[in-house]
Amino acid sequence: MTSYKIALLDGDGIGPEIMAEAVKVLNLVAQRNNLDLELLPGAFGASAYFSHGHSFPDETKALCDTADAILKGPIGLSHEESKKIPVDMQPERGALLPLRRRYDTFANFRPVYLPKALARFSPLKPEIIGDGIDFIIIRELVGGLYFGSKEAGVNEQGKRYVKETLEYDEDQIARIARVAFETARKRNKVLHNIHKSNVLKSSVLWNEVMGEVGTEFPDVEVRHFLVDAAATYLCLNPGQFDVMVMENMFGDILSDQGGGILGSLGLMPSACLGPDKAYYEPSHGSAPDIAGQGIANPYSMIGSVAMMLEMSFSLDQEAKNIWHAMQSVFAQGYSTADLSAPGSDVRMISTDGFGDLVVEELSKL
Ligand code: IPM
Ligand code: MG
Repeated sequence: MTSYKIALLDGDGIGPEIMAEAVKVLNLVAQRNNLDLELLPGAFGASAYFSHGHSFPDETKALCDTADAILKGPIGLSHEESKKIPVDMQPERGALLPLRRRYDTFANFRPVYLPKALARFSPLKPEIIGDGIDFIIIRELVGGLYFGSKEAGVNEQGKRYVKETLEYDEDQIARIARVAFETARKRNKVLHNIHKSNVLKSSVLWNEVMGEVGTEFPDVEVRHFLVDAAATYLCLNPGQFDVMVMENMFGDILSDQGGGILGSLGLMPSACLGPDKAYYEPSHGSAPDIAGQGIANPYSMIGSVAMMLEMSFSLDQEAKNIWHAMQSVFAQGYSTADLSAPGSDVRMISTDGFGDLVVEELSKL
């Protein structure tokens, strides 16, 4: 029997509700693959700050250190609630970025996927969606503005000022470039490199290193897009993209746009890979406005489980089965109230209703 330890950080807001559904799926997969899964719940986020005095408590760090993989729910509070927590302890700065840094999870995979049968979720016209949307954003996750040095104060003119730095060295760029080229090689052998080299020097170096790493992948065609143009083309013609690679901040913004063209960030799972450890999380926030109502769709959390099974445990077939099970629940017309669009014939179900149906579909596969 193979044993895995998985840290479960359910986070804030809708986190615990959608995590519960992800665990149902995990348990089924464990049972039928004869896996011994040790699930290790840990406090993380704003809830951890209130219960443990720290948004990434030492106990949680220790638990993540021993885990084979980490499954993380969304974190964060409403704008007003956030003010109850000191700025540096707020869950984004106090927990999430330290988690990324601790495990050096530089490679963030954000699939933007909507089969044609689910086109009703998307705000785009059917002629733009064509046969469906299917591309992946690879976002550098531990460099750039997010992690550069910062200062704030009052300048010589007596004005409040702030300074944040965008730094990358060539090794940081080369390692994400390699991940992107390898991913493109496994898919359609086209890589869109997203940059802003007409203004930013960081992008000039980025492109130089992309070109150097590209010589190791002569079979992959690279197409260069300025980030602002890429934002437009994501709406006008998303079908041209297959694998996109970009620095941290650009990836934050364009991946949310990816969720927008699908119709909801609730359809965006993700994987964050480091040299020794990976964690998996929905790309969306904790949606405190709908927490506790049982209306949040657990797709992105369950999709993150699928990504974990594939990328950390090489259970590729089970990962595919999970995607398939979720798509077939949607294809039968079911939806939760948080997802936009579907017509009047939608069969509305709750968060746990969705999880149960996914488990039911999955058990047939
Ligand atoms: C994301 C989120 C985070 C980010 C926030 C919560 C700090 O928006 O994972 O995209 O900006 O990276
Ligand atoms: Mg984001």
